[in-house]
Amino acid sequence: MITAQHIQHSFKIGKKGKERPVPVLKDLSFHVEKGAIVSIVGRSGSGKSTLLHILAGFLKPDSGTITVDGTVTSDFNETDSAAFRLDRFGFIFQNFQLMPGLTTFENIELPLKLKGISRTVRKAEVNELLQQVGLQEVRDHYPNELSGGQQQRVSIARALITNPPVIFADEPTGSLDSETEQEILALIRSLNRTRGITFVIITHDDEVAAIADTIYHMHDGVLAAGGVHHAG
Ligand SMILES: Nc1ncnc2c1ncn2[C@@H]1O[C@H](COP(=O)(O)OP(=O)(O)OP(=O)(O)O)[C@@H](O)[C@H]1O
Ligand SMILES: [Mg+2]
Repeated sequence: MITAQHIQHSFKIGKKGKERPVPVLKDLSFHVEKGAIVSIVGRSGSGKSTLLHILAGFLKPDSGTITVDGTVTSDFNETDSAAFRLDRFGFIFQNFQLMPGLTTFENIELPLKLKGISRTVRKAEVNELLQQVGLQEVRDHYPNELSGGQQQRVSIARALITNPPVIFADEPTGSLDSETEQEILALIRSLNRTRGITFVIITHDDEVAAIADTIYHMHDGVLAAGGVHHAG
């Protein structure tokens, strides 16, 4: 599904004129099977989020290629990258990243609006998903009127609304208590099983990593598979 080949990436840091490159990813190669849940663990600053940004096309690697379903995406310009992302990828973040001025319904509807889907179809699809993830009761709430777990459900629904084959998650349970974390993990598992959605999940949390088919460790700018776990 997703293949990264020989990815290298550095950030330039320091004052203007005195910048020096700090290598973050060093000849990293990696493959995610369709329908898998893969987790990436590693210490803070090891380059996990940077890799996710590169896999999703937010950031261009200095060298190397990313291929998604046979399409080389690392050559895309920004417009093509954005269109491809809207079509193929969903995202879940630690801090939810909901639009504060939009209700639950409107936050979930937003990707469909960006895709130019008609109002009638949007309404039907959002209502159906609200049912499926149990958010009908809070459909008219703004994010600041929701619990953390509800906000993460809204962000998962927003990631799902376009029916993407892949969802990237960066510390999806990092802001949740352990009970809510279990709920969100159960939701991710069931989406993987029932819809075959591929998940790439960055986490510091062993319980999150444990739902993955394969756990990768980020270390010294490369990934190493570190143990296979068969969940449930
Ligand atoms: N835009 C940037 N400019 C300069 N350096 C950056 C930039 N983004 C990240 N870095 C550096 O790259 C390294 C990797 O950062 P990254 O955010 O990928 O780490 P991470 O593994 O996600 O860490 P965490 O677990 O804390 O989220 C860090 O040393 C960070 O300081
Ligand atoms: Mg990070």
